[in-house]
Amino acid sequence: MKILVVGGGGKEHAIVWKLSQSRFVEKVYCAPGNAGIARLAENVNIADTDIRNLASFVEKNGVDFTVVGPEAPLSEGIVDYFNDRKLNIFGPTRKAALIESSKIFAKDFMKEFRIPTASFVSFDRAEDAIHFLEHHSLPLVIKADGLASGKGATIADTLEEAKDAVRRAMIERAWGEAGRRIIIEEFLPGHEVSLLAFTDGKTVLPMVTSTEYKRVSDGGHGPNTGGMGTIAPNPNVDKKTVDRIVEEVLKPTVDGLRYRGSPFKGVLYAGIMIRENDFKVLEFNCRFGDPETQAVLPLLESDLMEIMLHIHHDRLEEAEIKWKENIFSVCVIMASGGYPKRYKKGFQIKGLDKINDNQTVVFHAGTTRVGEKIVTDGGRVLAITSWDKNLKAARDRAYRAVEKISWEKEYHRKDIGIGFI
Ligand code: AMP
Ligand code: GLY
Repeated sequence: MKILVVGGGGKEHAIVWKLSQSRFVEKVYCAPGNAGIARLAENVNIADTDIRNLASFVEKNGVDFTVVGPEAPLSEGIVDYFNDRKLNIFGPTRKAALIESSKIFAKDFMKEFRIPTASFVSFDRAEDAIHFLEHHSLPLVIKADGLASGKGATIADTLEEAKDAVRRAMIERAWGEAGRRIIIEEFLPGHEVSLLAFTDGKTVLPMVTSTEYKRVSDGGHGPNTGGMGTIAPNPNVDKKTVDRIVEEVLKPTVDGLRYRGSPFKGVLYAGIMIRENDFKVLEFNCRFGDPETQAVLPLLESDLMEIMLHIHHDRLEEAEIKWKENIFSVCVIMASGGYPKRYKKGFQIKGLDKINDNQTVVFHAGTTRVGEKIVTDGGRVLAITSWDKNLKAARDRAYRAVEKISWEKEYHRKDIGIGFI
């Protein structure tokens, strides 16, 4: 089969890497891809939201199946459009993707289907939100309704921070239309875990758990980022808890969406806050997570394309999904100095050729090729993933690789995995 992967970040590199090992896959294209993906796939210079041109590319080149990485094309209806043109595609429709693209939709949905989540109120006028804040105790969490590249949530400890978050979203429109409406929700203490699952709209098969390190600095300090590293599986989340998350969160979500007439097919991601024996949903994503995917897919024994085909044909219940047993992975993000604020791009990346370990993969996120050189081209540049018999060994392996790679002003957290070993 000829496959097109849409996207060009770290999770798309991991998807391309895993798909290119499939016995069903002969050729992979990736739009727009990056310098690392180019070693496994043919990059195609079409933006991930240029839905019409992606469809035309698929038709012209005889692509059999398209896999969508990012949320933007999903929320803009790439799956609906491809379905109309009778092109095979993996991912949820625009309506099913609302579970990620509108927090208000997701919260109302969880309320209706009794899925545990933080209590919340939604607002479409800044004055009302500010009035609410003035009459409630903090901390509270303020979130833009729409897609904000993972940056739309603020945990406010003071009234000033809380009001600022409302103004930034609703008045300054830092995230454009995404901040036209907001929610204010209860702050949940606890430990975070991500549980991604494959689903064909009926059957739900969870992946291994993972936990990402969201803050920019060691010890969990500094602003939130798109993710500075991940571990998988999370050794503190036992099987019983995973089973409960599947039964109390993932299955009711998939059933609820089907019941509402917009069945969800693809990868459903639940971000969960666990506290003692209880848990609540923080958010849903309608796709693979980043950088969870870079740590999770190396642990998948089964053929990813085969799973996707089972989903495509509504036969996931027949699929058998195997994970590497007693193997853990650690993913360390190497970023541009300054990220998540201002940073410079275009620095040559050195040392990539020194990585020679069959339990380490260097996934590229923000890289591009300039002549013979591979240079930085984004905030998060590389995702170094290693796996081993325990988290400590995986962590040591990943950091040994990180030490061999460098560029001007490179930055990474030094504590990925710590806290779990
Ligand atoms: P979200 O965009 O909803 O995933 O929020 C981004 C991050 O903010 C989450 O991964 C959590 O670390 C944090 N967060 C979001 N909502 C809450 C909450 N209600 N209580 C505590 N932390 C939260
Ligand atoms: N790791 C969170 C996300 O992919 O949005």
